[in-house]
Amino acid sequence: MMAKTYSQYVCQQCGRRSARQMGRCPGCGEWNTLVEEIIERKPSAATHITRSGGHRSTPRRLSEISNEAEERIPVPIEEFARVLGGGIVPGSVVLIGGDPGIGKSTLLLQTTLAMAERGPVLYVSGEESERQIKMRATRVSFPVASSKTAKTEGTEAHTGKFPENLYLVTETSLDVILEHIENIKPDLIVIDSVQTTYLPELESSAGSVSQVRETASRLRELAKTTGVTVFLIGHVTKEGTIAGPRVLEHIVDAVLYLEGDRFQTYRLLRTVKNRYGATSEVGVFEMRERGLVEITNPSEAFLAERMVNAPGSAIAVTMEGTRPLLVEIQGLTSPTNFGNPRRTPNGIDFNRLLLISAVLTRRVGVRLAEQDVFVNVIGGLKINEPAADLAVATAIASSIKDAPVRADTVLIGEVGLSGELRMVGQMPARLREAEKLGFKQAIVPRRLSKGEPWPKGISVIEVRSLREALKAALIEE
Ligand code: TYD
Ligand code: MG
Repeated sequence: MMAKTYSQYVCQQCGRRSARQMGRCPGCGEWNTLVEEIIERKPSAATHITRSGGHRSTPRRLSEISNEAEERIPVPIEEFARVLGGGIVPGSVVLIGGDPGIGKSTLLLQTTLAMAERGPVLYVSGEESERQIKMRATRVSFPVASSKTAKTEGTEAHTGKFPENLYLVTETSLDVILEHIENIKPDLIVIDSVQTTYLPELESSAGSVSQVRETASRLRELAKTTGVTVFLIGHVTKEGTIAGPRVLEHIVDAVLYLEGDRFQTYRLLRTVKNRYGATSEVGVFEMRERGLVEITNPSEAFLAERMVNAPGSAIAVTMEGTRPLLVEIQGLTSPTNFGNPRRTPNGIDFNRLLLISAVLTRRVGVRLAEQDVFVNVIGGLKINEPAADLAVATAIASSIKDAPVRADTVLIGEVGLSGELRMVGQMPARLREAEKLGFKQAIVPRRLSKGEPWPKGISVIEVRSLREALKAALIEE
């Protein structure tokens, strides 16, 4: 049969197709995202790819379906397993996104090195040569899945022996990749990256929405019919989204993001979507010479370089998913030289900093009108929740007053426009984490109604306003 070719305009954001060019996508409302793509479909190009012949579905009675939890393949990297919801669900497709150079390939190489002890694993790279990957593999450490001691020792340096079952290939054509899968019959496949993989029968270029969607769909079909698990690596575009984000996020079972500051060593692996577990879980790693290393006690790590009794430093307790994290927040004020005072946040939202600065000026009388204000969250962490407001405000006030914050104190609470403090969620978990790390005192918003008693080991000071909180937190002469 003849191949049919036609051209369409495809939104590179949401995948909406249109017969004509438009300035604005009617699907997602983004501007200038429609790109012409030549779409050619050979009718013979079968969409059914199965490992062992066809697979037919059969409806079953709900009562007959086993209600045991999904069987999971353990992942020897605990911080990774946590984010996946406890382990790998066979037949699932997991997308791992992140900026270029953040460590996606490293993480998955370490994971496959560790997982190949269990069964065949295929690592497909469209970006690096087999030798480059081998060189990286010699450098990184990986937990040895079969070794019981690995759990306690964290990661083991690699011993010069590679698992026999780990296969590498540099390939970008999905058709060829599927052939390799047919031959090797892996339990686990890594596609590095979804943007470099293409289907020859589609004419649009690799990385376009059509290609990305088609690649992901075919791999999903393969996963669902054969039970193989697929990890897709995806680069995030400048705008902070994976190319064709909505398209991809619907196709896969889980979406994880690896993030962090490129110039700092901590990396956070976050769940954005997970059909088989909780979202907003987070795993913490550090990029070292031997690859990514798990940080099982991140609070401790984030506070390690803290200078006690230095003005301009305050400790916040933020929640990353279900996990409380203590982080140091630094503030610095410096007289504005000319023009408008600058507000420079690193790790918190710019508008949040504007708001907090305004509240400090107007409600507390801390004069910031002629001051540049810098705020830095240590460890390269990005804080999105208002629970850190109080620590941010305190760090700034501490800097301008040149008065240190009490060293044994954490600050938790949202700052309101009237200078009042507002309660935040999951307070007991936050307080317990602070207590665990040896903090003696927590300054928190006043409770309106008596809830369960505060944890015993830490003294909790309830305050109504930012002004009161500063009085309690700062050591002023
Ligand atoms: P990489 O996994 O290639 O990133 P991605 O696949 O997300 O683009 O990681 C690249 C960076 O990580 C690179 O700048 C070097 C650094 N790195 C280390 O610091 N230590 C290591 O052991 C490895 C393998 C990489
Ligand atoms: Mg890479």
